[in-house]
Amino acid sequence: MKRLVVFTGAGISAESGIKTFRDSGGLWEEHKIEDVATPQAWAKNPEMVQEFYNQRRKQALEAKPNAGHFVIAELQKHFVVHVITQNIDDLHERAGSKKVVHLHGEIKKSRSSAYPNLIYNIKGWELKMGDRCEKGYQLRPYIVWFGEAVPEMDNAIDLVQQADIFIVAGTSLNVYPAANLLDYAPNEIPKFYVDPNPDLVYSFGEIRVIKEKAGKGLPELAEKLVKEFTT
Ligand code: APR
Repeated sequence: MKRLVVFTGAGISAESGIKTFRDSGGLWEEHKIEDVATPQAWAKNPEMVQEFYNQRRKQALEAKPNAGHFVIAELQKHFVVHVITQNIDDLHERAGSKKVVHLHGEIKKSRSSAYPNLIYNIKGWELKMGDRCEKGYQLRPYIVWFGEAVPEMDNAIDLVQQADIFIVAGTSLNVYPAANLLDYAPNEIPKFYVDPNPDLVYSFGEIRVIKEKAGKGLPELAEKLVKEFTT
């Protein structure tokens, strides 16, 4: 089976009712990144950071996977599918995707603020000040904040370098190093970019732009890929 890598961002969860970051009305219009998504913010006002992620966790728990998530899971019948997502929700997993790499962390998990390798599942939507790891340190969201290392990046690069087909869906490609993944896709493989407002400046090899929402563009693309690469 051919290896399909799908690289996703907030846009693929938009039709599940989860706000993106940089569209109008997006999360970064309501909050300053430096107030809620940096280690400095955590040091300065951990309650505010905790609350920001508690609200996002509540939303993620109430959201349901949409057609875009489901069709990617469906493609596992025809390809070896690896999802690399910038999203912290678990909608890919809930849609049935088995191999998901979260570059920016996972909203349903917490981690020790002193020992990054102590990671825990969060029951329900709320992580509170006073919730502590087994060594007695405050638990923080298991999220990669701006300025922090992206531990899964090397793994993601390996997957993209081995891809036979590469799909990018629902990301503005504004954030690095995640956006660098496109540079690791072998030049000769077919690449696709699914986004209703494609603002794509991409100069490595050609990429086919599908100017659609994920819920419509991905099913149409999936049908083409199955026809072209598996029959
Ligand atoms: N289907 C597909 N794409 C969509 C849809 C949709 N229904 N709705 C919006 N989009 C597109 C937008 O046009 C935009 O290109 O999704 C993209 C969302 O871009 P961002 O809001 O910048 O989200 P993302 O690219 O995931 O941000 C990357 O930035 O703030 C950090 O850590 C955060 O992981 C996030 C990272």
